[in-house]
Amino acid sequence: MRMRQDHITSAKALSRGDIEAVLDRAAEFAGDPTAHADRRPGALLGLAFFEPSTRTRMSFAAAIKRLGGDIVDMGPVEASSVSKGESLADTVRVIEGYADAVVLRHPSEGAATMASEFVDVPLINAGDGAGQHPTQTLLDLYTIRAAAGLDGLTLGIVGDLKYGRTVHSLAHALTNFEVEQHFISPETLALPESVRYDLDAAGAAVEEHTSLEPVLGELDALYVTRIQQERFPDESEYRAVAGEYRIDAETLAGIDELPVLHPLPRIDEIQYFKQAHNGVPVRMALLDLLLEGDR
Ligand code: NCD
Repeated sequence: MRMRQDHITSAKALSRGDIEAVLDRAAEFAGDPTAHADRRPGALLGLAFFEPSTRTRMSFAAAIKRLGGDIVDMGPVEASSVSKGESLADTVRVIEGYADAVVLRHPSEGAATMASEFVDVPLINAGDGAGQHPTQTLLDLYTIRAAAGLDGLTLGIVGDLKYGRTVHSLAHALTNFEVEQHFISPETLALPESVRYDLDAAGAAVEEHTSLEPVLGELDALYVTRIQQERFPDESEYRAVAGEYRIDAETLAGIDELPVLHPLPRIDEIQYFKQAHNGVPVRMALLDLLLEGDR
């Protein structure tokens, strides 16, 4: 089986079938992630991270190693030829000669889509500015499916909906399922028009709110995101909203068994480490599917 599309640059392009293939294979791998080193022996995964990362970088590395492969890592930007002015297109072209797939994280929105035009091996977007983060979405969906199911779900998504790339990807991917999406944020951090437009065009059930309290009781699960300080053009704008929508035990008092998810890192919010750990089997599944067949 092959993924319908080879580059994974946006969750917009993921079909329900693609998502289910990854989630189902991830569930197989999750049983014993150490038992699959014969899946992709010798496969090399190129890592090009132009922005900080802990979970995404390490879980991709763990995933390819669990499948029997290894990483070739560009390392810190300061130590690479990027610091000599090399273009992103040239950088990924070079890495494709060393690896069977490339994982790219970059501060510019659209960087992964642009870079994917220069390579033949699968290019995986590990976050492009405030744009998309499709593999985080796959592990979010995996976690949500296990905790609360997908079809028939009423999901709250709270926090920085403007700059949060995990939100944009998740919102797009959820249009493949029967999910009611409730977006909660200050008006200044509401969903970008372009994402809202796509959700409406897909016929998704969407509501936007500025306060969590009135909808909290209706939710089957709550997805919390960090205010993306590094994307604010102005520090004072960040300070005006920092700490808003902090979710704690008091917020959830009287609410029965509400699964709360968070892509991490957390600043003020509660955490969900299981979700971060699911990154390994989910990324194993994605890499396994992408590297299937002769390239
Ligand atoms: C997210 C990201 O980088 O967009 N982190 C992650 O990959 N787990 C979310 C965030 O930084 O808030």
